[in-house]
Amino acid sequence: MRFLDLILKKRDGESLSAEEISFIIQEYNKENIPDYQMSALLMAIFFQGLNNKETSAFTAALAESGEVLDFSSLGKIVADKHSSGGVGDKVTLVLAPLVAAAEVPVAKISGRGLGFTGGTIDKLESIPGFSANLTIKRFSELVSQNNLAIMAQTDRLTPAEGKLYALRDVTGTIENISLIAASIMSKKIAAGAGAILLDVKTGRGAFMQSKEKAFHLAETMVRIGKEMGKRVVSVVTDMSQPLGFAVGNILEVKEALSVLKGEGPQEVEQLCLFLGGLILALVGKVRDPEEGQEELARLLKSGVALEKFKQMVAFQGGKLEYLENTDLFPKASYIEPIKAPKSGYLREIDALRVGRVAVLLGAGRSVKGEKIDPSVGVLLTHKVGDSVEEGEILAFLHGNKEDTLSASVKELTNAFLIVDERVEPPPLIHGVVPPFPS
Ligand code: URA
Repeated sequence: MRFLDLILKKRDGESLSAEEISFIIQEYNKENIPDYQMSALLMAIFFQGLNNKETSAFTAALAESGEVLDFSSLGKIVADKHSSGGVGDKVTLVLAPLVAAAEVPVAKISGRGLGFTGGTIDKLESIPGFSANLTIKRFSELVSQNNLAIMAQTDRLTPAEGKLYALRDVTGTIENISLIAASIMSKKIAAGAGAILLDVKTGRGAFMQSKEKAFHLAETMVRIGKEMGKRVVSVVTDMSQPLGFAVGNILEVKEALSVLKGEGPQEVEQLCLFLGGLILALVGKVRDPEEGQEELARLLKSGVALEKFKQMVAFQGGKLEYLENTDLFPKASYIEPIKAPKSGYLREIDALRVGRVAVLLGAGRSVKGEKIDPSVGVLLTHKVGDSVEEGEILAFLHGNKEDTLSASVKELTNAFLIVDERVEPPPLIHGVVPPFPS
């Protein structure tokens, strides 16, 4: 097979066979295909698209480029969840221990922050001592002993996906639904869980800004997962404004702890119970998601989910005294209030701008591998739909770098839109794919 012929085939709108796709991924993984040719193929895919068969073959080839975990010896269905990325998205910190508290094993391989979106691993690593760099052996042991482990991505799983993602990132070929679906689902397939919940975010602070695209991605991933023998459900959730009030690593860990203590914010708790109910139904633990939600609400109230979170942190080396007394966490050196320029109703808290402010402050990375600052971020005091008075505080900016202060204040101030007429808060959940039960 000549790689150039495959580029020409895709460029001219023909479809590639499963053998051709497997050849492409294997050879690229072995570094037998130069980046300039792979970039040309990616751009041809970007414009011509991949059909369903091609997308599934692409996913399978990426998943098979490394090890594929197998939890079948546990004798229980292992659950996994994935978020397509958002601002203030601390769902995994609450949902994973919550589901594990219901004795459903959770094996979660998570990423670091990407662009303006935060990453679960950065959040967990803001707990002093916590290690997400587990070996696959240790990861599997923890899932089996404690029903819960969260680890960072490793090159041993889906190595071709890692290389391809880095290339897509710098060749303008990220935003293609087939490529995104194959990228996400290959990592989920390789991580070995039998039941997968996909949280597809939509709105200003999401990669899928339109609902139409979010549902298309959700449907594509569900189809791929089912074809590969997985139990899978997608939920399209709102990311027009940040989730909850906290954005930034330590601030989000504190908010997640507050949810695990049953102290809210309500919307984060509500979303976690909704997603968790679906997972419990998906693995067959309960008859329907509503029953799952009731069970999880009990586990949250009784403190069992919080205990599970603490156990996970302890098993992975984190210092529990920080969870017992959150005042021990480092704090930002300045806290700057952002005030309402006029009275009215909050129509918009632009999640994209808030995410960018968090990156500017140092909560995320501007260049690959950059060290992040765990203590900085944004703490909102209001949500869309709230009424505010002129001069009332809308948010606090937590920062350490004086040089980014004025740009951050400006960008954060511009994230808020206040109008005279009443505003309905956006729905938290836009839809479930497929509607449960399928
Ligand atoms: N997240 C992923 O894991 N892959 C993509 O392609 C886009 C977002």
